Amino acid sequence: MSIVVNSAQNVFLLQTALNSYAFGIDDQGLVRHLYWGKRIDAIDDFEMPVLTEVSTNDPVLEITREEFPVYGGLRYKEHCLKVTFADGTREMVYEYAGYKIIKEESFDELILKLKDRHYRLKLELHYKVYEHYDLMERYVVLRNESEEKMEVEKLHSGQFHIPYENLNFSNVHGHWGAEQQRFVQKVSYGKIVIENRRGISTHNHNPYFILDLDATETFGEVYFGALRRSGNFSGVVEQTQYGETLVQLGLGEHDFCLELLPGESFESPAILCGYSATGFETMSQNLHRFAGDFLLREGLRPVLYNSWEATGFGVSCEEQKKLAKKAKELGAELFVVDDGWFGERNGIDNGLGDWYVNETKFPNGIDELISEVKSLGLLFGIWVEPEMVNPPTKLYAKHPDWIYHFDTRESDTSRGQYVLDMTKPEVQEYIYRMLDGLLSEHDIDYIKWDANRPISQTGLSRDLWYRHIEAVYDIVRRLRKKHPKVLFEACASGGGRIDYGILGIFDDFWTSDNTDACDRLTIQDTYSYLYPMKAMRAWVTDCPNFLSNRVIPMKFRFHSAMLGTLGIGCNILEFSEAETELAKEMIAEYKEIRPIVQEGVFYRIKHTSANDYSLYEYKKDREGLLFAFLPQSKIGHRSVTVKLRGLSEAATYSVKLESGEFRKSGAYLMQNGFELRLTGDYASTLIRFSEL
Ligand code: GLA
Repeated sequence: MSIVVNSAQNVFLLQTALNSYAFGIDDQGLVRHLYWGKRIDAIDDFEMPVLTEVSTNDPVLEITREEFPVYGGLRYKEHCLKVTFADGTREMVYEYAGYKIIKEESFDELILKLKDRHYRLKLELHYKVYEHYDLMERYVVLRNESEEKMEVEKLHSGQFHIPYENLNFSNVHGHWGAEQQRFVQKVSYGKIVIENRRGISTHNHNPYFILDLDATETFGEVYFGALRRSGNFSGVVEQTQYGETLVQLGLGEHDFCLELLPGESFESPAILCGYSATGFETMSQNLHRFAGDFLLREGLRPVLYNSWEATGFGVSCEEQKKLAKKAKELGAELFVVDDGWFGERNGIDNGLGDWYVNETKFPNGIDELISEVKSLGLLFGIWVEPEMVNPPTKLYAKHPDWIYHFDTRESDTSRGQYVLDMTKPEVQEYIYRMLDGLLSEHDIDYIKWDANRPISQTGLSRDLWYRHIEAVYDIVRRLRKKHPKVLFEACASGGGRIDYGILGIFDDFWTSDNTDACDRLTIQDTYSYLYPMKAMRAWVTDCPNFLSNRVIPMKFRFHSAMLGTLGIGCNILEFSEAETELAKEMIAEYKEIRPIVQEGVFYRIKHTSANDYSLYEYKKDREGLLFAFLPQSKIGHRSVTVKLRGLSEAATYSVKLESGEFRKSGAYLMQNGFELRLTGDYASTLIRFSEL
């Protein structure tokens, strides 16, 4: 039973396999947080502390641990909800109105009902408990049951209380080509705010929080939550004056206002959250398992070839056919034509919006290429950027009012393009029909959906930030329903659109335009904290790398890309014989190990070697992999002690190194470990092991 209720005390205890989360309703009707941490079974042990004011300057509402503080009263810390009612009152006062428990196959859900004391506004706090994943989803539902409009000016999906001070907060910083740069910061007095105001991409921060008490991969307490939403978000961490840390996550507050019309209701995005008493590894593995079981489409992702880095906008049917033939020879399974196949697209300034096949580049239509790709036995994919339009296009000439704009201002172009106003039903319908047409008229298996600029000149509504993303989700949902075999890749100038919202809508995710195999190790390492390896598209590209100018051996480039879903982005027509042979070998090996990479359990292996080894383990049933990287040998050429994780202590494992095989017990491999020594620069190896 994952939801336990003490009705006499109005205490609710949410139980997962290892953890507990408790809150209750006090005699004033306030919903008050009681506990989050390791499992406690005795619900009767939870008592509601009596509210006492410390001083008039420390009012009880300020000190009390509320589950969902609303704006109003003697509350000055962060609130989750601010509503302005039709008469201008902008304070909510709620009372408890009962609860409900729903049982589904994969979760139990508790709904706590609250209602305003005066206005007919209902507020429900929802908690979905995924017992065997040690995870929970929190979201709220607002229902306007009055005859008048209400305005929601702030909506965070939940507040969490961490019973410590001086925690470490971690998230990512970064920008285009440098996504997923992890940072860790001490929480002290004051607030830490992370947010996205750009509407579309989220290169800078990612919508999640991780708060830990000096945790490592395998030790220590970690509290975490990820917002199931793309686009604008805000998150606030606040160490209070009263010995705890608060954290909230929800819809971006920047320029936000949602109108709730009479009879309307609104569901906030959920926060997928959890607690780990055993470090970051448990956090990542629980999230990965959840994503694999509930969000990501089943099946293994194909090895793709994408022509972007090879051809840029200079696409031609003949060259694409040649690339497809070579991609097949190497072992690719999916051939993707990137930007440049449509309209008058010869650079960034034209074409977006004119989604007809460019006749100069494809004189006999795109089906000539598709037939060739299909006859080779490959899947076919195509690039689109549907939310955008370039000014010189036919689409813009016909519908200049379809872009976000203010009538009295000039809209900004960025990358030579405007953003279409996705809140307009006619724009949504146009995009749906365009993509449906593309998929119905041509034998296409894969869509790469890109979005390369942020929103500006937003127009008059202030809920566009929410509705824009809702429209993207909705179009993809509709397309998936009608074209169930088509895979959708989410891309936004590289890795600008990865979060727990899009994870359940799209199937494949572009991690970064930075394809330098060394930079990718850092990007991918951070990515793995939250996101599963099956959702991490990684390409092998040419050297010198266009961003870093670095030359890295092909084997290292392959190993780095084999950590996720493998893709090739090289100009393969220029491969030497030796490169062709190596690529064939590596792709064949990837196909062998792919189920372990994409569906196995993932471990970031820590070590103390003075050399900069990166070690990643994958384990599925009786098989396992260890990828080891050494970008640069340093003085002393120290070896690294590799201590594997997740093995059966008593079982014997055969471990296959490049230099030969050895056998050891699981206990030995985990406790004592084995020595691995790579030398030179850009050294890498893949070690496979299996339980005998
Ligand atoms: C973005 C993507 C790239 C590529 C280009 C095409 O930058 O991240 O992978 O598709 O657009 O213009």
